[in-house]
Amino acid sequence: MIISIEGADGTGKSSICRMLCARMQKGGIDALVLHEPGSTLLGDSIRGILLDFDKGVGLSVGAEFFLFCAARAQLIEEIVVKQMDKRDVIVFDRYIDSTIVYQGMAMGLGYERVLDVMRLFFGDFFPELTIVLDSSLENVMERIGMEDRIERRGASFIEKVLKGFRHLPELFPERVVLIDSNRPLEEVMEDVWKVVSARL
Ligand code: TYD
Repeated sequence: MIISIEGADGTGKSSICRMLCARMQKGGIDALVLHEPGSTLLGDSIRGILLDFDKGVGLSVGAEFFLFCAARAQLIEEIVVKQMDKRDVIVFDRYIDSTIVYQGMAMGLGYERVLDVMRLFFGDFFPELTIVLDSSLENVMERIGMEDRIERRGASFIEKVLKGFRHLPELFPERVVLIDSNRPLEEVMEDVWKVVSARL
């Protein structure tokens, strides 16, 4: 089973992924966490370009989209295909919905177009359950560092990202659940666990 944890930068995704994995392992469920973009050698190289590319000219939105997809194709072929048979659960720290929201909605490529391409290539590997961690703009701005190219896009971009993620349960009601993460991590984790354990 594939579960993805999604949300804007600074919503606590990585901590929740770690806590979720630990909770599952404790219950005898064999889980693996993968972080996107990355988790393979090629993915890490592509991640470097995506987060730092600055050669006087910008990276085009289309190039950005296909680079995220290239990293994902490598991750799926190199790791996911093999691990799906061995593990009970694969937890993605960001996955296809980040592309739908960041490139499709916030960067303007159009989410239907982005979704069409991803269905074509990754259709067999879509998540069964997606948890979106939702924070206020103020909390997100406080937590992020403006360290990379994407974080430096500023408050109005982050607002679009937050809005995009909030729209996902409407688009994919069968798999997306929104959880308020403007709270202590332990409380957020309890809600995440309620949703996940009901589907295991
Ligand atoms: P990262 O440092 O991994 O952020 P986080 O720890 O919050 O996941 O940086 C990944 C950045 O890439 C983040 O700003 C979101 C962005 N992103 C996209 O724009 N599209 C995508 O498809 C993915 C997976 C990430």
